[in-house]
Amino acid sequence: MTANCCLKNALRLKSPAKVNLFLRIVKRRSDGYHELASLFQAIDLFDTLDFSMDDVDTFTCSDPTLPNDDSNLVLKALRLFKTKTGIRKNFKIHLEKLIPQQAGLGGGSGNAATTLWALNRLCGDPATESQLMQWGSEIGSDISFFLSTGTAYCTGRGEIIESLAPLDSTLLSIIKPPIGLSTPQVYSKVDVAALFPRDPKTVLQNFLKADPDYFNDLEPAAFNVLPELKKFKESLLKDGGFSTVLLCGSGSSFFCLGNGNPNAVAGYPNFKNYSAHFVNRSPGSWY
Ligand code: C5P
Repeated sequence: MTANCCLKNALRLKSPAKVNLFLRIVKRRSDGYHELASLFQAIDLFDTLDFSMDDVDTFTCSDPTLPNDDSNLVLKALRLFKTKTGIRKNFKIHLEKLIPQQAGLGGGSGNAATTLWALNRLCGDPATESQLMQWGSEIGSDISFFLSTGTAYCTGRGEIIESLAPLDSTLLSIIKPPIGLSTPQVYSKVDVAALFPRDPKTVLQNFLKADPDYFNDLEPAAFNVLPELKKFKESLLKDGGFSTVLLCGSGSSFFCLGNGNPNAVAGYPNFKNYSAHFVNRSPGSWY
């Protein structure tokens, strides 16, 4: 099967990653989550998922380090879909992993959203895309975004979605150091009072007028957890020559703009480098 191929009872779909073009943390909530306002953008760095009907539910993955337990977001999405729809069919799912983990690229959330969309399609679309978006938020804050059309202003925990028209794409270098970061650990280090009080609505309007202010309020917290990461960012700018370098989500990867040379960068010799562009989808079809 080629990517995005649909046989009678089988479907192969690409599962994108995302970057946050800006990410403002507004406050810490009483439920432990953080209220944020962020411009999310899907990118063409893809995992691939194969789905087919089967007698029992099975899940396999090309990456043996991916947990095959209750924390696995594909399995959570499968259970959620069956619970919400009452459908008793079973599915065989295989995940071919390319998006790095603990990178802030939303790979697992994208996999969960792709699973919800695929199972819905295989079952004849019993749910609307906006229902899938609502269901996805019950198992993770970033999942709803991946059920948007690829560019969205996200608020609340990240699950309140305002879909936006596609932005002009530019070439991104996604640089992933060998050390990953845990999202809860990074959020736990956020000092909300110390953040610069930008108005995210104004930042968004300026972005849409091609006057971007790339920033990520999670950067100081990530640098607190992993101080070498700050030096790595500085080297990407100074030695690598990129014009913009910003932590992706809660890290540890960065997206870089401009004509840079990551091989000139000091700090992590074994980083990975992926080229990516913005990607969007049309309602009713997948990426
Ligand atoms: O919702 P999700 O499971 O992806 O969140 C993982 C963790 O990241 C949460 O348990 C929480 O510690 C942190 N988080 C947060 N505020 C958000 C999103 C995530 O504090 N808006």
